[in-house]
Amino acid sequence: MIRIGIVGTSSISERLVDAVRTVDGVGLGPVASRDAVRGREFAERIGAPGAADGLEGLLDGGDIDAVYIASPNSVHAAQIRTAVDAGIPVLVEKPATLTAEEWEGLVAHARGRGVVLLEAMRTAYDPGIRAIQEVLPRLGRVRRVSFRYEKRSARYDHVLAGERTNIFDPALGGSALRDLGVYPLHALVLLFGAPRTIAGARVGIASGTDGLGSAIAEYDDFVADAAWSKITDTSLPSEIQGEDGSLAIDAIDAPRRLVLTPRAGVPEVIDVTAAENPMVGEVERLREAVRGADIAVDQDRTARTLRLVDALLR
Ligand SMILES: NC(=O)c1ccc[n+]([C@@H]2O[C@H](COP(=O)([O-])OP(=O)(O)OC[C@H]3O[C@@H](n4cnc5c(N)ncnc54)[C@H](OP(=O)(O)O)[C@@H]3O)[C@@H](O)[C@H]2O)c1
Repeated sequence: MIRIGIVGTSSISERLVDAVRTVDGVGLGPVASRDAVRGREFAERIGAPGAADGLEGLLDGGDIDAVYIASPNSVHAAQIRTAVDAGIPVLVEKPATLTAEEWEGLVAHARGRGVVLLEAMRTAYDPGIRAIQEVLPRLGRVRRVSFRYEKRSARYDHVLAGERTNIFDPALGGSALRDLGVYPLHALVLLFGAPRTIAGARVGIASGTDGLGSAIAEYDDFVADAAWSKITDTSLPSEIQGEDGSLAIDAIDAPRRLVLTPRAGVPEVIDVTAAENPMVGEVERLREAVRGADIAVDQDRTARTLRLVDALLR
């Protein structure tokens, strides 16, 4: 049984714990919090075997076999290093680090020590992405890809009220690109590889970070665009256009309904069967990695995605 310690006491940790419960061979370890009371209450709520004083306390306790890191983005790199130095496998929330260089350095460090380091990019392990891969040949030569993840965050209201909130705080690596933009970019890299070029534009908000943005990327014989937003909603699907047909995708982070429209043909709906919790796949991948699976491809995909983020932030 791989006991996974939890760093961070927000709702995403609860969601991960819910996924852990459904995966064989993994179990829940203690929770790490910077605040003893919050840690204890959180541990009780999720049924974790106790709470520790921060990541260091969790590692000192000696009763975990892996750690899930769900802290603000700017904190990830130092926490990854601390866990890797303790020899503990890491599943770290997206974006794994603030830059590709930081990630590549940590991957090299983890490999040198023989420690698993995996980004919790749930999209990469989603059955909806596999369904798209299966359908792709029916589209003919791909000419345009248009992926989007646009969802207004309730926390944007805090920004509008002049209050600080981590997810929009540039000092903590908060950014719509880093938060939601990484999903369409990661899906692009996974399905089509890294583009030859990428350029973009972003809209700033009062907290000093970006609230939404768009990118356009060149491949050898098609173009791709990506859109992300945490300050507006969209009614548009993502889409792949091929010379023989188009594919509408309801949500690129977790595709559940695909509509394939062949050229001059009748639309075909493809419903994707998936676990209710979209984080199950990343927990399974962590388990495989801890059992010895080679995750170099996963780590490289994270690096390629972060390089696109770097380019868009320059
Ligand atoms: N996969 C997904 O679908 C998904 C969804 C949402 C978020 N995320 C990712 O999950 C991560 C956390 O996001 P979030 O919105 O949950 O963040 P958050 O609420 O700002 O922080 C998460 C936890 O980190 C700890 N923390 C807060 N500020 C900290 C600081 N300055 N230094 C160290 N620890 C701090 C807090 O726990 P304690 O105070 O108890 O220590 C908090 O509960 C981000 O990387 C985000 O991109 C992923």
